[in-house]
Amino acid sequence: MGLAWMIAGRRPGVRIVSVERDERRAEETAKLFAEIPDVEILCGDWTRIYERAPFDLLVPDGGGNGKKTSPVDPERLLRPAGTIVVDDFTPMTQWPPLLDGQPDAARLAWLEHPALLCTEVRLAPDLSTLVGTRRP
Ligand SMILES: C[S@@+](CC[C@H](N)C(=O)[O-])C[C@H]1O[C@@H](n2cnc3c(N)ncnc32)[C@H](O)[C@@H]1O
Repeated sequence: MGLAWMIAGRRPGVRIVSVERDERRAEETAKLFAEIPDVEILCGDWTRIYERAPFDLLVPDGGGNGKKTSPVDPERLLRPAGTIVVDDFTPMTQWPPLLDGQPDAARLAWLEHPALLCTEVRLAPDLSTLVGTRRP
């Protein structure tokens, strides 16, 4: 769904690349967008995204978000001043942020990433997202 929103909202000429590891889903998605220019669906692990870098916007929503998989490397994947959006966090209520009583490593990996200026945006009482800009 996020991919469809991005395709619908992009300016003409903006290239979109999505990686999906589920073969059937990748195939169906590629078919769905086959007639739409500048959309590419790669099948495989999220790390395939490195094949097409760099990007102006990156949304690691299926791997590479630092939660269950290691975080993407914004210096390799983003152009300077490019943006990364990492979603599906609960809003932070203290510093340092904790998860189950321990420092929240996933969130801190982004908020304290040396290559990023990153902040948390609260979208709902129970939902927040991190938005980072690659330092020039
Ligand atoms: C939240 S959905 C987002 C789907 C799509 N990117 C969109 O925005 O419409 C997450 C997707 O990531 C895929 N996924 C999960 N882990 C992955 C990984 N390690 N590599 C590639 N894709 C993965 C899942 O199969 C699932 O379809």
